Amino acid sequence: MTRIATTVEDTRAEVADARRRGLAVGFVPTMGALHAGHASLLDFARQETGFVVASIFVNPSQFGPKEDLSRYPRPFENDVELCRQHGVDLIFHPAPEAVYPLNFRTWVEVHGLQDRWEGATRPGHFRGVATVVLKLFNIVQPDIAYFGQKDAQQARVLEQMVHDLNVPVTMRICPTVREADGLALSSRNQYLDVDQRRHAVVLHQCLEAVHARTAQGERAAAVLRDLVAARVAQVPGARLDYVAFVDRATLEPIDHLQGEVLVPLAVFMGSTRLIDNMLLTL
Ligand code: PAJ
Repeated sequence: MTRIATTVEDTRAEVADARRRGLAVGFVPTMGALHAGHASLLDFARQETGFVVASIFVNPSQFGPKEDLSRYPRPFENDVELCRQHGVDLIFHPAPEAVYPLNFRTWVEVHGLQDRWEGATRPGHFRGVATVVLKLFNIVQPDIAYFGQKDAQQARVLEQMVHDLNVPVTMRICPTVREADGLALSSRNQYLDVDQRRHAVVLHQCLEAVHARTAQGERAAAVLRDLVAARVAQVPGARLDYVAFVDRATLEPIDHLQGEVLVPLAVFMGSTRLIDNMLLTL
């Protein structure tokens, strides 16, 4: 049975009860508007742990003043149903005031990793993410937490936080789930109109093109960047925000590709900003 808790106290009591029964606790933090990408994380948790907790909380502190906080989709009943279907034991669904009471003053920052790429376009975003995830970890106290490779920089920032602050949680980063045409599933895909949706496949196509060129031996980041820029420029309504070729661990740009290279990509389709990435092993 899937139970719903809205308070920290109830969540702690439910998790403590599961622990008394000897169950390992798996945790999948989300902002709701759940899709098959989220479901895959729930399935990994279900396979690996005895008590699965999902949080559904649209975290205000990770949205910029001009971002989509108020219009972010909140189909709570559907989300509960999806959680049921995937065997979630407990949904933590707090009100914003329960997470950020009036005199809230403490923030988690992961310097260096938080400021580039997504962080450059969205100042303060990762500070909001890191803070809420540490709070959620402290509330749920899971053994294993599950995140998507879809948000590669987020995963890296959170891994660093867990390492630096000795957070006793094992981090599992799970593969990106895609539509049949290659578009990475995202709650923001529903903002796209029919034409934008059709054209949004360009993100995945760019990453595939980069992969193909590196397989042919290309190693110059500048050449690959131009390739991506040219492809995006051909797509009506699409605008490249950034593409980068970075060290997987430091997220620092590299000119000559070698080793494990992360290729994060952000493209505006009209006013909707989509992200994707690929990990290359060269
Ligand atoms: P949200 O965007 O709801 O994503 C929740 C989790 O689902 C993240 O770990 C994300 O990487 C993963 N995810 C999203 N799309 C995916 C896909 N197509 N394939 C696989 N995994 C996917 O990320 C957040 O929420 C928030 O920043 C959060 C961590 C909950 C903090 O507020």
